Amino acid sequence: MSKLTGVSLSPNAPLDRRNTFRVSVRAAWLAEIRDATAIPEVLALTRVKNLPFMVLGEGSNVLFTRDFDGLMFAMTNRGIEILEDDGRSARVRAQAGEDWHGLVRWSLAQGLCGLENLSLIPGTVGAAPIQNIGAYGAELSETLETVEAYDREAGKFMRLNREQCGFSYRQSVFKQQPDRWIITAIESRLRRNAPLKLDYAGVREELAAMNVSAPTAKDVSKAVCRLRRRKLPDPAVIGNAGSFFKNPVVLSGQADELRAAHPDLPIFKAPDGKKLSAAWLIEQCGWKGFREGDAAVSDKHALVLVNHGRATGGQIWSLAQRIRDSVREKFGIRLEPEPRIL
Ligand code: FAD
Ligand code: EPU
Repeated sequence: MSKLTGVSLSPNAPLDRRNTFRVSVRAAWLAEIRDATAIPEVLALTRVKNLPFMVLGEGSNVLFTRDFDGLMFAMTNRGIEILEDDGRSARVRAQAGEDWHGLVRWSLAQGLCGLENLSLIPGTVGAAPIQNIGAYGAELSETLETVEAYDREAGKFMRLNREQCGFSYRQSVFKQQPDRWIITAIESRLRRNAPLKLDYAGVREELAAMNVSAPTAKDVSKAVCRLRRRKLPDPAVIGNAGSFFKNPVVLSGQADELRAAHPDLPIFKAPDGKKLSAAWLIEQCGWKGFREGDAAVSDKHALVLVNHGRATGGQIWSLAQRIRDSVREKFGIRLEPEPRIL
């Protein structure tokens, strides 16, 4: 343990409970950072400063295929506050170590909306900008105003506005340059009376099943939670990292050709072409429910790889590569993993 305030530094740290795939690996050093101002001091410590570096949140979007032989940061700084409130909207600051769904619930309790469609996404606030988390017709980038981060390249704390974050579907500057930025907090603009987003498949039906005819943001959050609990395996019960591949975005012409050959293929609009359903492509290749040892494809959702117990990260990754190859052979589509593979 170090004597730095606001930091715990531990050698040879087990990560089994710090990744939702529940793979058993260790980090050479783990620094838990409760106070973001301590970051430069920790990075300068002689025993760790030349080691490989990464930031880990809750580990719900990573796959470790081996031990991490370097310095791992876990941001555990907490706090949510309203910085400004003009009665119509509020600027909310949340520190990186907060739980994402905790922030969603907190905002709804304050009568603020904008995050309800992103209910129940696992992970920390600090990781949310990395892939611009999205679900049920909403993305983080729609409400986010500022990311506060430490830039390891420049060696200083920075504030990035939304444009500087380079957000798109499951993408950002942070994801493009892994570990350059240590995100310490985010600021979002949340409104008191924003129009609700109900158009994503299943949301209206779920509200109807709940007997809600004039939904509030809290109702939408509840509907999204119900849908998610039904569709996705719970990582507390079975190891997984949500969608293992991104939904591929292709040119409209290619989507039309595929649709002609496969009339059932689900196709969605995307800003720069058409988005295909990776789950559908994988299911058509026969993988849904496939199991080899403890590495498997969920029988609930074809896009979710699961660890039934003792699978190693290497076994899960090797299954993922076989799935990717078979989708490429059958459909000519290259799937890209969504989680970070280490
Ligand atoms: P980690 O998995 O620990 O890290 C993810 C990446 O972020 C890594 O590259 C890591 O280095 C980096 N990182 C983490 N914290 C920081 C920081 N403070 N500063 C800089 N870099 C950092 N995602 C969606 O978008 N939509 C969904 O609907 C969705 N559903 C999911 C459902 C399930 C059941 C699961 C298990 C995952 C799901 N995910 C979803 C993926 C995951 O929840 C998100 O990507 C989440 O933001 C990851 O948060 P984390 O704290 O676990 O990050
Ligand atoms: N489908 C299948 N087989 C399955 C499951 C789904 O063919 O086993 C088809 C269905 O036709 C369905 C379509 O796939 O209509 C889409 O399925 P779903 O609504 O479950 O969404 P998804 O595209 O699989 C995406 C995100 C999820 C997010 C949901 C809801 C990606 C990679 N995944 O999944 O995010 O929660 O939409 O918005 O974009 C994650 O990123 O980890 C994640 C879970």
